Amino acid sequence: MAHVLLRHRDVENIHRYDVYIANGGYEGLKKALSQHTPDEIKEIVKKSNLRGRGGAGFPAGVKWSFIPKGEGPKYVVINADESEAGTFKDRELIESNPHQVIEGALIAAYAIGAQAVYCYFRGEFMHAALPFEEAIKEGYANKAIGDTIFSSQFSCDFYTHYGAGAYICGEETALLESLEGKLGQPRVRPPFPAQAGLYARPTVVNNVETLANVPPIIVNGADWYLGLGTEKSPGPKILCLSGHVSRPGNYEAPLGLTYRELVFGEQYGGGIPGDKKFKALLPSGGSAPIIVENALDSPITYEGLRPHNSLMGSASVIVLDETVDIVWAAMKLVHFFRHESCGKCTPCREGTYWLDQVYHRLVNGHGREADVKLLESIAGQMQGECLCALGDFATSPVLSTIKYFPDEYRAKVGA
Ligand SMILES: Cc1cc2nc3c(=O)[nH]c(=O)nc-3n(C[C@H](O)[C@H](O)[C@H](O)COP(=O)(O)O)c2cc1C
Ligand code: SF4
Repeated sequence: MAHVLLRHRDVENIHRYDVYIANGGYEGLKKALSQHTPDEIKEIVKKSNLRGRGGAGFPAGVKWSFIPKGEGPKYVVINADESEAGTFKDRELIESNPHQVIEGALIAAYAIGAQAVYCYFRGEFMHAALPFEEAIKEGYANKAIGDTIFSSQFSCDFYTHYGAGAYICGEETALLESLEGKLGQPRVRPPFPAQAGLYARPTVVNNVETLANVPPIIVNGADWYLGLGTEKSPGPKILCLSGHVSRPGNYEAPLGLTYRELVFGEQYGGGIPGDKKFKALLPSGGSAPIIVENALDSPITYEGLRPHNSLMGSASVIVLDETVDIVWAAMKLVHFFRHESCGKCTPCREGTYWLDQVYHRLVNGHGREADVKLLESIAGQMQGECLCALGDFATSPVLSTIKYFPDEYRAKVGA
């Protein structure tokens, strides 16, 4: 099947404006400007049930309709921070199909009445974003960006900004702080970005992949989109596959593929190398609870892992084979969260510190019998008590690995 998002795999050089145009590029924006009011665009995107690809799955059209009407600046912000472990889908879009993301952001800007789009890249994307920067220049040169876009009444500028490489700056309010030149720490909500976002003005923040879905929805219609994927999770999704698989990489598939098909399917991961057995899988980098063999037949959808108390999240799937020391793996993930905790709120700042301390002594052969209970107690005091979701994310590897692999923990304390 032809790709909807990773179109550069079918069309060579689609990162170039002329090639993008020759293959139907900017038809979605032109159609939006010439045939639809901003309210109609919001309705089409709402009807398509496009859900946010940044992890939380919030419906994009609903988010856009929260923006108040009326005068004054409004903004669209593209979240290109992509810092979750094992996530590398936005990077491929930015590098190889940038005009589709730009077009999606411009349609969003038209729908909410924004005059500017800001794209926030993680600092490490300095080189990966060069084709995107070039695409913006081409967009201006061809009147797809700037004043009176494609001779319409709609004008919109485009700016890029690079973070300094902090995971927390992917959290939308920390991102906005960083974009304003401040320390990247989450804001207390309310107010939400739709009310007071960038420079205290109404703002929509959307993930790169979310916005790349928008042009084909406008061109082909909401019903076409609803025909892909499942009823509650429609559309295509880029699945980032890494770890112990024969063919790691990005795979575009309609939502609803199973984890087993993704890991073992010949056209996807191709199984685990070296005839090793499957042990566990991280469905969303480090931030969602791990799953084991009994969840492999679950569909990759927003609700598919609910019976297993986990989440699809950004669909960055990391596979662990039987050789992995699960306590060591949990320690690595906890260490990441401790390093990335911004320190603004006590349960996360202190909790990640203490989890990290206990894991280090467990892995280094100094574990105490009460340590597993201690880990559970620390995680329990963090859950639901933190200012942003990073605190909860940090508890996921802890509680899920203790649940599925209690023996490995016992072995670490000689019990
Ligand atoms: C700690 C943390 C890190 C996040 N990192 C990212 C990220 O790198 N990219 C992203 O799109 N969303 C990230 N998010 C989610 C954003 O806060 C936000 O929900 C998202 O950008 C909304 O876009 P969407 O509705 O299109 O998914 C992160 C959230 C948290 C709590
Ligand atoms: S939960 Fe952690 S990362 Fe989020 S605001 Fe609190 S200290 Fe910062």
